[in-house]
Amino acid sequence: MHGRGVIGAEVESTQDLIELEKKYFLPVGKRLPVTLVRGDGVSVWDLEGRRYIDFVAGIAAVSLGHCHPAVVEAITRQAAELMHTSNYYYTVPQVKLAELLCQSAKMDKVFFCNSGAEAVEGLIKTARKWGKEKREGAYEIIVAENAFHGRTMATVSAAGTEKYRAPFAPLVEGFVRVPFNDIEAIKKATTAKTAAVLLEPVQGEGGVNIPDDAYLPAVRAWCNEAGILLMLDEVQSGVGRTGKLFAYQHYGIVPDVMAVAKALGGGFPIGAFLTLDHCAVMGQGEHGTTFGGNALACEVGYTVLKYMLDHDIPGEAAKRGQYVERRLHSLADRHPLITEVRGMGLIWAIELGGPLAEQAMNMCLEEGLLINNVKPTALRMIPPLTVTEGEIDGAIEIIDRVLGRLEAQPAK
Ligand SMILES: Cc1ncc(COP(=O)(O)O)c(C=O)c1O
Repeated sequence: MHGRGVIGAEVESTQDLIELEKKYFLPVGKRLPVTLVRGDGVSVWDLEGRRYIDFVAGIAAVSLGHCHPAVVEAITRQAAELMHTSNYYYTVPQVKLAELLCQSAKMDKVFFCNSGAEAVEGLIKTARKWGKEKREGAYEIIVAENAFHGRTMATVSAAGTEKYRAPFAPLVEGFVRVPFNDIEAIKKATTAKTAAVLLEPVQGEGGVNIPDDAYLPAVRAWCNEAGILLMLDEVQSGVGRTGKLFAYQHYGIVPDVMAVAKALGGGFPIGAFLTLDHCAVMGQGEHGTTFGGNALACEVGYTVLKYMLDHDIPGEAAKRGQYVERRLHSLADRHPLITEVRGMGLIWAIELGGPLAEQAMNMCLEEGLLINNVKPTALRMIPPLTVTEGEIDGAIEIIDRVLGRLEAQPAK
């Protein structure tokens, strides 16, 4: 470790950074012992010069691959022109992105923010205000077990996992939890106090849980019948990930309100929530942000979305997804450790017959693959949407070797 304690040219190894990080960071995240310094497409390189295939993609954010030329061009051009003005003024990129996003999502109004959690906060505030104005003060929101909506107080309160909620009680009130993929449970939980149902179309952090085809159409029909809002959190599933631009498009429905973030920025921070006119209830002064929707973020978001639409990236992701599915099922045929393969588009998980996902993730890292242990028993794959069959083959070969080694080790 070098003496001056200031990050600069003297940081030569990951070990240097690990020590400095330990000294200065709140230890809220569990990091892997690798320092990434460069990315290109589906590859990243570490400080020591090793290349990795990236099947994490910044948690489904680096949608067009690392340092995509169109994204780099948009950032450098817009950064040299105008980055941030506050929302007191109009900017061209913001209005351009608003039009393209609303039209492609078939929604009426948008609010831009910086992250997924902020976008979901927008949904929660919309439900509260709408319930007050249009449903006699109804304020409860039905949410799903195993759901993940972010780390702010309201989104943590909406979480479907006890460990995210428990340390922060008392929580924001008004969330009613039901099992995911169970329409009868939603019907039973609906009362005069219910304002909305909030769901991820595909649960990402919960372990890549795909509902039955009939679930979301049935939830949509129930929300119509009960006169409550359907709010979808498309922060992870949206903007191409599932093989359509938005996951709800697989099911022939449209939500009343939705949240997006992650893939929209291609690696640059941006979030948004969108609503239909009938529930666009927030008025002047009732919501706001300093940085959200600034000219730089919106120019990047516009560039990413336009590129996706012009090059049918969701369609490409669907095709590559079918290839991933075939390769994972053939892995499962050969590896008794795999008990389930689940996913759609380019979000996949393999369920292992025991809590081996962390060990498997570490072994994949050593072999040159970034992959994530989304649950103690499951590995998740969320590569850039531009991944090629050759890159998928490279990742599968590594997983194949790692599972073989795990299967060969004596049972504990
Ligand atoms: C479905 C979903 N909603 C919300 C979030 C929170 O997004 P952010 O981390 O950008 O706040 C995430 C993050 O993983 C997510 O997967």
